[in-house]
Amino acid sequence: MTLPKLHIVVGSTRPGRVAKPIADWVVDRTTADGRFEVELVDIADYDLPVLDEPHHPVLGKYENPHTLRWAAKIREADAFIFVMPEYNYGPPVALLNAFDYLGREWTYAPVAFVSYGGIAGGLRGVQVMKQIVTTVRMVPIPDGVVLPLVLQHLQTGEFVPPASAEPAFAPMLTELLRWAEALTALRAEGPPKPMLPPGPPPGPRP
Ligand SMILES: Cc1cc2nc3c(=O)[nH]c(=O)nc-3n(C[C@H](O)[C@H](O)[C@H](O)COP(=O)(O)O)c2cc1C
Repeated sequence: MTLPKLHIVVGSTRPGRVAKPIADWVVDRTTADGRFEVELVDIADYDLPVLDEPHHPVLGKYENPHTLRWAAKIREADAFIFVMPEYNYGPPVALLNAFDYLGREWTYAPVAFVSYGGIAGGLRGVQVMKQIVTTVRMVPIPDGVVLPLVLQHLQTGEFVPPASAEPAFAPMLTELLRWAEALTALRAEGPPKPMLPPGPPPGPRP
């Protein structure tokens, strides 16, 4: 039986980022669960500059090799988990930039969030990201894992999850799987024809 493909996206590219040890834990945990084929997708590996495509991503007319590589990777997935902190109560720019590069590759895929940070556990950034992902018809699911005061769980350099994380994990995967299955037909069909605002098509930057 083919399992649905789940990409765990590392939402920070900062040197010394906490995102990586947490994403490694998410990969281990989801792999052990056994309901998905799991892959870690690290934005830092794709060398994406600040968005440099001349066309609106909804058209899928990507020109740069880094975009084509990024699009090919995201297209493979049936579902996503974004592992993300909040920066100034919003999503990290690296994650937003990587997200903005693409259109239909994200469409009709469910996304869950594992967030972390100070007392709010990154939740304010997640709430903003949930709103953003809906513009490309991604489906953000409410069930997620929240890790407040995250540095307390990284004292050895390795992420040691708090007891509160475990009960949240399986329900998140259950809901992600239900949505991934329910959206299969829509993903195969693809998004509706794009309706762009009237006016000249976006061209190369002068
Ligand atoms: C630019 C910036 C803004 C931040 N803003 C917040 C914030 O709004 N809320 C919060 O809980 N932590 C905030 N932090 C602290 C981060 O939670 C902490 O640095 C965390 O390690 C960031 O994740 P990363 O290491 O994976 O990049 C901020 C950190 C940076 C670098």
